[in-house]
Amino acid sequence: MAYPYQHPSEVRVLSEYFGDPEARTLKGWEARGGYKALRKALGMSPADIVNEVKTSGLRGRGGAGFPTGVKWSFMPKEPTRQHYLVCNADESEPGTFKDRELIRWTPHQLIEGCLIGAYAIRATHCYIYIRGEFFEPAQILAKAIEEAYAAGYAGKDVMGSGQELHVTLHLGAGAYICGEETAMMNSIEGRRGEPRVKPPFPAVAGVFGKPTTINNVETLCSVTHIVNNGGEWYRQWGTEKSTGTKLFCVSGHVRRPGNYEVPMGFNFREFIHDICGGPHEGREVRAVIPGGSSVPMMSADDLDVGMDYEAFVSVGTMLGAGSVIVMDDTADIVKQVRRMVEFYAHESCGQCSQCREGTAWATKILRRIERGGGTEADLTTLVDISNNMAGKTICVLSDAAAAPILSSIGKFRGDYQARFQLEEKLMPARRA
Ligand SMILES: Cc1cc2nc3c(=O)[nH]c(=O)nc-3n(C[C@H](O)[C@H](O)[C@H](O)COP(=O)(O)O)c2cc1C
Repeated sequence: MAYPYQHPSEVRVLSEYFGDPEARTLKGWEARGGYKALRKALGMSPADIVNEVKTSGLRGRGGAGFPTGVKWSFMPKEPTRQHYLVCNADESEPGTFKDRELIRWTPHQLIEGCLIGAYAIRATHCYIYIRGEFFEPAQILAKAIEEAYAAGYAGKDVMGSGQELHVTLHLGAGAYICGEETAMMNSIEGRRGEPRVKPPFPAVAGVFGKPTTINNVETLCSVTHIVNNGGEWYRQWGTEKSTGTKLFCVSGHVRRPGNYEVPMGFNFREFIHDICGGPHEGREVRAVIPGGSSVPMMSADDLDVGMDYEAFVSVGTMLGAGSVIVMDDTADIVKQVRRMVEFYAHESCGQCSQCREGTAWATKILRRIERGGGTEADLTTLVDISNNMAGKTICVLSDAAAAPILSSIGKFRGDYQARFQLEEKLMPARRA
């Protein structure tokens, strides 16, 4: 059964079994080749697995695109202390809805990836941190973890190998900031979800002060296939620096929103117009956010670009989590930016003044402009505030809030100007 629609240009590695309820159960997963990769991994040394993942060129799918094998190699080689793997299933970036689908349809794909990842970094314990609102995916995952323990894929002696590997599901309370890796570690420890200053980096002192690696759900799911088929196999897709396939979640003004898995480097215009069905009848694409609300907006003129890390940077934006938000010519850009910035103001943990004050101040100005009471000076102030928010705080939530402001003023300034003094024209009495 196609889920809910499959395009012939898709290459389904991670999403092959989306829409197939049988794949959700342990029996069904085993029948589809499940846990073969774990068995193979346990016959390899941790260093060999790290090298295979390095060969694959896999880069973290949580947003930053850091090479996974390189990140794993930062962990101490001779564990004298407990190591931890943390799987980031918080998925709170606006526009992102791929990780929850991986969990809903193929929970064992993730569990297998977590067990392999933990073994590769010489950890015996993996925490899967999932946001509490993902009630259904969390229930499915909890059941699958139980099945994995009962079948001996997790526990004190995994598949009779003598290797101990545990998986614990940890439900968050629903805070965007807890998706940031160091805030997540605080949250697991029962502290406030506030990012930590780095260094020390997690590989030195992470959760409970022990060496820790944090990886996204899609990253760990990809590891399962890389171990099964080899790093070179994975490189058959993508570009030199952005390898493999990637899930892109598409929302907004297209005929077929949803999750699509394509090779990295796929042409973005073709993706939106062909795979996603393009804009609705009589409408035109005007603006696109390619990687979730925290990356700069693109105008429709820039769509002839590859869907990979380097190509998106070359047109002034980022691949991020691969969350594509399409806006046609009916979209109210000022309103959309105000909504995004308001979200970041609400989710700021408040530790850094640039973020706490900046997001709140920018929201206030954006609300005024949206209402029709803005002036040219407000745009100057917004740019000034944003420049003082980016690159100056403990984590990049502040940069995330600055991105839609700066890119929209740069590319759609006229949309802001069209609203100036509107309040006076429409409601002179209110001003007086
Ligand atoms: C404010 C903020 C929110 C984040 N939210 C998520 C998230 O929901 N899921 C995720 O995987 N990474 C998120 N990240 C990125 C993580 O900090 C981290 O880089 C990622 O989980 C590493 O995994 P990867 O190397 O597999 O990409 C967020 C970062 C920031 C600054």
